Amino acid sequence: MMTQENNEKILILDFGSQYAQLIARRVRENNVFSEIVSHKTPAEQIKKINPKGIILSGGPASVYVKDAPQCDREIVQLGIPILGICYGMQLGCQMLGATVKPTPTREYGRTACSALERDNTLFKSIDKDIPVWMSHGDQVVELPGEFESLALTKNCPYAAVKHKKRPFYGVQFHPEVTHTLQGSQIIRNFLYEICGCTGTWAMHSYLEQAVRDIRSQVGDQRVVCGLSGGVDSAVAAALIYKAIGNHLSCIFVDNGLLRNYEAEEVVKTFKENFIVDLHAIDARDRFLQKLNGVTDPEKKRKIIGHEFIDVFKEEAGKISQIKFLAQGTLYPDVIESIPAHGGPTVTIKSHHNVGGLPAQLGFELVEPLRFLFKDEVRKIGEELGLPAELVWRHPFPGPGLSIRIIGEVTQPRLEVLRNADKIVIEEIRKAGLYRSIAQCFAVLLPLSTVGVMGDERSYENVIAIRAVETTDFMTADWCRIPHETLGAISNRIINEVKGVNRVVYDISTKPPSTIEWE
Ligand code: XMP
Repeated sequence: MMTQENNEKILILDFGSQYAQLIARRVRENNVFSEIVSHKTPAEQIKKINPKGIILSGGPASVYVKDAPQCDREIVQLGIPILGICYGMQLGCQMLGATVKPTPTREYGRTACSALERDNTLFKSIDKDIPVWMSHGDQVVELPGEFESLALTKNCPYAAVKHKKRPFYGVQFHPEVTHTLQGSQIIRNFLYEICGCTGTWAMHSYLEQAVRDIRSQVGDQRVVCGLSGGVDSAVAAALIYKAIGNHLSCIFVDNGLLRNYEAEEVVKTFKENFIVDLHAIDARDRFLQKLNGVTDPEKKRKIIGHEFIDVFKEEAGKISQIKFLAQGTLYPDVIESIPAHGGPTVTIKSHHNVGGLPAQLGFELVEPLRFLFKDEVRKIGEELGLPAELVWRHPFPGPGLSIRIIGEVTQPRLEVLRNADKIVIEEIRKAGLYRSIAQCFAVLLPLSTVGVMGDERSYENVIAIRAVETTDFMTADWCRIPHETLGAISNRIINEVKGVNRVVYDISTKPPSTIEWE
């Protein structure tokens, strides 16, 4: 478990907001560490954590209904600065005597907001009129005299407020979303001007702290880490290696479902950068045999998951005295499982990062990335000197290419898909688009369509190109890739990849489609 006690910290009490993660990110971008906790966290516990400030998130409920999520009322007595956002503002104001009601003129989306001319630390260095992002059907309608309005919109007289005696501030809009143009500055004002933060949070200090924590958790015991070829497991391994050197053993399973030269690159990277005990297992035939004749996507996933565990267990059994298993669990996986309305305890989802290793393996977990977002993991990767190629690699699913071949997975089909995928990535890189796209890849549709090549009729397969923009992979839009780049991809695939005579571009959003085709 990471300890960040020495650093200044902001606690975010989550009331079920879809934006809680965004709030955490905005705070961290301003060099202050932030952590999302349940809205039920007792004031006594918050006092012990001793944060510099508290942010009450938004949420889907109405504060005046029975069973609306509450927080410990004592938090307003702690003297710790509080910023309430949307639901958080309404709840804070209600706790301090204001009335909240449904409004006949709800505000959704971009709204013009005007700051009022008064001593207004929260709006320091902010233009008088700014566009803000609203999303509310309730609002504060009566504000007791101890409050002061700081900003208003056409339909909301209390778009931002402060309490005159207690360090409580509230904003009805969402400063954490980019549509609120100067929202990050408002959050910065709260952190620096109101909470007195100095901005000590930076990746290198996190890295040093992580190294200390790993050493104190692991001592001189052995850690095993499964490398998948992806960013998270690579950074986790590199970080643990920095902490404990050759007490780390890595297992890399080549399941035959990886991209072009991926297996070779992973092994090369780790052999070149670390003197690590690396076990690279060629299990390609095993996986392919098990997948023989299987067409159902979920069956494929299960087979690959089970096979991975078996291979991993066999190999780990050969390494003596392993006590810990390292996993590249990220912060979104941890906080997704904090229930806003749920039971009294915070349940942490067991994360299956590398193909799905179950807790029954009997190891203790080391999860040095469990407080980090993906872009922060990439920064740590760069600090640790991992190659940019690996650090910026798009995410790749555990079942690999098997879920990008519709239907049965065979060696010849894998070959076709690998060659097509290589071209997609090469052309996307050449066009300078790789880093701005969240994920892009080829999918093999093994249905035959008619074409003409030279004077010959052809009857061959289709390749679909998928490229998406997303930050959280829960929703995604298709990328508006320039036609020239799509043209170059299509041309090269049809000319260079035998067995393909048609290329199509997937223009579906998620939802209702998913990113992967299976
Ligand atoms: P979907 O297709 O659900 O994908 O929109 C969202 C993200 O999850 C990845 N994905 C998987 N990752 N095992 C994994 O490790 C899986 O079975 C799996 N299915 C989808 C997908 O690549 C995308 O990043």
